[in-house]
Amino acid sequence: MLFSITNPFVFTVFGASGDLAKLKIFPTLYELMLQNRFPKEFYIVGFSRTKLTQSAFRKIFKESVEKKFGKDVNTKVLNALIKHVYYFSGQYTQIEDFIAFRLFLEKTTKKRKIEHIAYFSVPPVVFKDIVRNLGETRRSKKDDIRLIIEKPFGEDKKSAEELYHFVSQYFTEKQVYLLDHYLGKTSVQSILHLRRSNRILSHMLHGSEIANIQITAFEDIGVGDRIGYFEQVGTVRDMIQSHLLQILALITMNIPNHLDAESVQREKHAVLSAIDCPCDSENIVLGQYKHYSDKKGVSKTTRTETFAAVRLFLDQEDWYKVPIYLRTGKKLHEKHTYVVVELKKFPFQPKHEEPNRLIIELQPDERIHITLVNLHEDVQQQQEITTTDSIACSIEGCLPDHGTLLLEVIKGERLHFLSFHEIISAWTVVDQITSLSQKNKLRLHRYEHGSMGPKAQHTLPKKDGFSWYDIH
Ligand SMILES: NC(=O)c1ccc[n+]([C@@H]2O[C@H](COP(=O)([O-])OP(=O)(O)OC[C@H]3O[C@@H](n4cnc5c(N)ncnc54)[C@H](OP(=O)(O)O)[C@@H]3O)[C@@H](O)[C@H]2O)c1
Repeated sequence: MLFSITNPFVFTVFGASGDLAKLKIFPTLYELMLQNRFPKEFYIVGFSRTKLTQSAFRKIFKESVEKKFGKDVNTKVLNALIKHVYYFSGQYTQIEDFIAFRLFLEKTTKKRKIEHIAYFSVPPVVFKDIVRNLGETRRSKKDDIRLIIEKPFGEDKKSAEELYHFVSQYFTEKQVYLLDHYLGKTSVQSILHLRRSNRILSHMLHGSEIANIQITAFEDIGVGDRIGYFEQVGTVRDMIQSHLLQILALITMNIPNHLDAESVQREKHAVLSAIDCPCDSENIVLGQYKHYSDKKGVSKTTRTETFAAVRLFLDQEDWYKVPIYLRTGKKLHEKHTYVVVELKKFPFQPKHEEPNRLIIELQPDERIHITLVNLHEDVQQQQEITTTDSIACSIEGCLPDHGTLLLEVIKGERLHFLSFHEIISAWTVVDQITSLSQKNKLRLHRYEHGSMGPKAQHTLPKKDGFSWYDIH
């Protein structure tokens, strides 16, 4: 039985004229509608500065869905959805516009008090204005307003703390949903569920059994239109701060007895706050793809990294001296995100023998592999056995990343959202890396488009006698 929302709601997209709205949010709303998840009464409202009539906005909304689903689009469902779509043009900085917006919502919803979900699909510079104006123009503190704020939350530890304190002046922690869309991926969610439901995995994933962990997130595309944003942040802040550290936390955390947000966030935070990054040039490799600086809007002398590999540890007894390697980059040979856990070998096993591996592919393929080794005595031949199966959600009712997360907000749940403490701990690690980079203490290795990234990345696992395990 699929969960459907019964209460009416308003869903406002701030920055409705932007890329994220068109690429992800509108198509996701369509998918939820297609699955009959919505009640009879709901309002999807676009808010941005761009002057648009309601029908022009409805057209943009419709086209973004048609672009995503092509011939497969269900026109009847899309037309029914469009009737729930509204538009309001206003300045994020102007309180008058937010007062007018509240009146607009009251008129549209016929003054009914219904839950209001506000999605921040805007660049971070606009966050505070929207928070303040939404906070100051609500009728009462009891109004049910839920804010969805996409990562990045802040640009370092200090700014994240400042932003948190700013938001807390207007809203409680329970009203704020800190979103990393990786946590909406069913493959990423499977890490926790596989570990909770299978004792075989819980035994394997003890630090004392593990030789090393490798987390890879390769992208084959470059920065595209996000160059303005990317130039400010780079790969370490864009990919490692949230996506990769969240995967690391899910793989290594203690499994709580209760599957609720507080318990899971508490255990993830325990890992993130225990990260021990020997942050120096021996343990960090940064790269930049050739011709990155030829892009319009990029300085010829830019030092923004488009590739990063890091070697780190967890300051926890169970994980003593277990190296964890992270790597991620753009314009590489393939799009592929996966985790490799290499188990320790028995002391009597010869060096050349392959270790047992647990591999979880997260995207684009979603699969789990466990590799074993057998010996055929007669011919003295080793046989590697790999058991593989899909972990993709392929039954009716599966949703894309943002769909799972939007439903969760509407339900008032937050299992797959971040806690502020997790974000701060992640920034503590990332700040150490970015500060070294800003002081020019890290070499920037150039690499070719379509390659596997800078060769220097291999020095990290080599320090411990390991090598990156590449899946093809
Ligand atoms: N695009 C993605 O795939 C993606 C992925 C992950 C996270 N995110 C995050 O999601 C948020 C939205 O991403 P996006 O790609 O949709 O951003 P965007 O296209 O740059 O901006 C969204 C909208 O915000 C308004 N805006 C842009 N710059 C502004 C400024 N300096 N001052 C005031 N308003 C401004 C514009 O609307 P108006 O001018 O009409 O008001 C714009 O259409 C960002 O925080 C981004 O980091 C995006």
